[in-house]
Amino acid sequence: MIKAYRNFSQIVTLSNAHKKDGRRLLSEDLSIIENGSVVFDGKEILWVGKDSDFPSEYQNILPSEFDNKILVPELVDSHTHLVFGGDRSSEYSMRLNGATYEEIRKSGGGIVSTMKSTRDFSKEDLLEISCERIEQIYSYGVGTIEIKSGYGLSFEKEKEISLIINELKKKFEGKVQIFNTYMAAHAVPADFASSHEYMEKVVLPLLSELGPLKIIDAVDIFHENKYFDRSDCEALFEKAKNLGIKIKMHADEFNDNKGAVLATKHQALSCDHLLNTEVDGIKALAHSDTVATLLPGTGFFLGVPQANARAFLDAGVKVAIASDYNPGSCHFDNLLLIASIAAPQYKMNLCELWAAITLNAAHALGLKDQGAIVKGLKPRFSIFEADCLDKITYHWGKNLYLAGER
Ligand code: NIG
Ligand code: FE
Repeated sequence: MIKAYRNFSQIVTLSNAHKKDGRRLLSEDLSIIENGSVVFDGKEILWVGKDSDFPSEYQNILPSEFDNKILVPELVDSHTHLVFGGDRSSEYSMRLNGATYEEIRKSGGGIVSTMKSTRDFSKEDLLEISCERIEQIYSYGVGTIEIKSGYGLSFEKEKEISLIINELKKKFEGKVQIFNTYMAAHAVPADFASSHEYMEKVVLPLLSELGPLKIIDAVDIFHENKYFDRSDCEALFEKAKNLGIKIKMHADEFNDNKGAVLATKHQALSCDHLLNTEVDGIKALAHSDTVATLLPGTGFFLGVPQANARAFLDAGVKVAIASDYNPGSCHFDNLLLIASIAAPQYKMNLCELWAAITLNAAHALGLKDQGAIVKGLKPRFSIFEADCLDKITYHWGKNLYLAGER
């Protein structure tokens, strides 16, 4: 069925940002249409422009009217770890009282403590709590959510979590598009002598089992000292490639261990965190299609210096922002609020900010057919209750989201 949405105060098309592949963006690349209208069917955008130019061939369609509303490309949260049980509130307090991430890990906190509480949750409980979290994220205007497994850390529990994410994908079809990322390589539980042993016994064989089911969209790995090393990454990426599964990576968070360089070598969809990436990593990203996903909420939550966003942006890297919603390092899920607070620190212009949570975030999931309001792309939009875009980023924490079209 063809639909006509007419008379938005503004349509933020990002058409120029789309033409520039999300790189080196100027504020005018938002390509805003004042008093705009859009026509689309179930598959694609058929026309977008000023309402005064509305094509006669669509005049007979009964339109929906959107005075004083803004249309933007659908918001995409391209990095979450939202399937988990329990909470780590005490760690937040420990940190305020001076403990570091490493000290917390040594005292039994960190990812492994969420593993324990997650294992105490049944499949049904995890499904239910994940649905609530997705509904909450959806309420901010996010229409696509990437969800990583990684708090089961055993063959059976990781399998269960990957299957839960697949169930969530089916359950939310038509409302929220869910991207299933396999991240059993999140931490090494104490019952394994090394990351290599855990890779051999859990991560790789489970991927071999899940791969043929065609439910996994990408793999991810925590490439960091005391977690997973380069050879673990190579083994995972090799297997993923053989199974036709895309690659993502947690890279250069605690130090520059050349994660960004490695990610580009393997044509990863994205590499994420990047707090310590040096010039070689930035250059490699600029010359690749790999998106640099920054996670400012994590910097705020952990109280550590933020990524040098300008260095990435000025080098011509495609930059996305995601929430990293998880129980330990960012127990906060509001992507738009995180991005609005981070943008002044990152010294991002308004187009860089919006592209980071729409166009480039979609590209971080390999979704090249969305992220801008341009003829031929998918009609995936978010509608906000405001008469100009400025108000949305300005009103920190006031939820102006009205509805979505997916
Ligand atoms: O992205 N870095 C690895 N994973 C999460 C942290 C998860 C946790 O602390 O539970 C992150 O920040
Ligand atoms: Fe993460």
